[in-house]
Amino acid sequence: MFDELRGRIVLVTGGASGIGAGIVDAFLGEGSTVISADLSFPEGLLRRQEHAWTIRLDVRDEDAVADAVSQIGERLGTIDTLVTAAGTSTLGFATETTSAQWDLNLDVNAKGSFLVAKHVAARLVDQERTGRIVFISSQAGKNGYRGMTAYVASKHAVLGVTKTMATELASRGITVNAICPGIIETPMKHRERIEGGAIRGMTAEEVAAEDRSQVPLGRTGTPEDVAGVALFLASDLAGYMTGQGINVTGGMTMH
Ligand SMILES: NC(=O)c1ccc[n+]([C@@H]2O[C@H](COP(=O)([O-])OP(=O)(O)OC[C@H]3O[C@@H](n4cnc5c(N)ncnc54)[C@H](O)[C@@H]3O)[C@@H](O)[C@H]2O)c1
Repeated sequence: MFDELRGRIVLVTGGASGIGAGIVDAFLGEGSTVISADLSFPEGLLRRQEHAWTIRLDVRDEDAVADAVSQIGERLGTIDTLVTAAGTSTLGFATETTSAQWDLNLDVNAKGSFLVAKHVAARLVDQERTGRIVFISSQAGKNGYRGMTAYVASKHAVLGVTKTMATELASRGITVNAICPGIIETPMKHRERIEGGAIRGMTAEEVAAEDRSQVPLGRTGTPEDVAGVALFLASDLAGYMTGQGINVTGGMTMH
């Protein structure tokens, strides 16, 4: 679809599951070399198929992030496109949210996304190369949702980092945007329906029906719905966009 993505070196965090896995497949389909980084992969930078690599990475660990970015740089070339889909969530009303739950959401979603972008961008700047950074935030980066205080805070933080890095990196030819997905069918969403239903006295099926009823386009999203927008943001067509939080929500969020 996008010839310019052929041969690009693309790092996708959280690539083992859900939205990240969909994004990995989409870039592989464009002929990019894709490194999927996830906590759940075995140690080391491993080749899975011709252009598909995996690396075990905990995005919260800055030394590990720096090491992964330099290992990839030395073996495969400078990462020119980053998509940060590693993420987690906990459910619980604000008055019951623990300090540990707050730290987990902020550490993985906000700090982890920032650390990977920091090291990828630093290498691009050092080598005087242009590039693309795409954060996966959420519509929870724009709205409040009952029972999700720490997660909502972490996703608002991602949009703050997006806008700031976009400003700092624009003169270097590096664009920084975020995708704000709505309700996407992934293992995380299925777990959230069980946990969120439990604190609201609903079954997971009732929460799923409520989810569908809130989407103007009449269905919840798929990882492919998000992946198409990630490809677009990495493509030449999006060259004049930076600092944006793009909703992919079936119309559920419109601002
Ligand atoms: N599913 C949705 O409805 C939805 C909506 C909006 C935003 N998002 C965001 O999209 C991203 C992907 O979510 P998903 O629904 O595909 O979830 P998922 O649980 O299916 O996938 C998340 C992946 O991140 C990995 N991960 C978790 N912590 C990590 C860490 N510390 N280091 C490296 N990898 C780690 C997990 O192992 C997993 O493979 C998340 O940031 C999530 O907040 C999801």
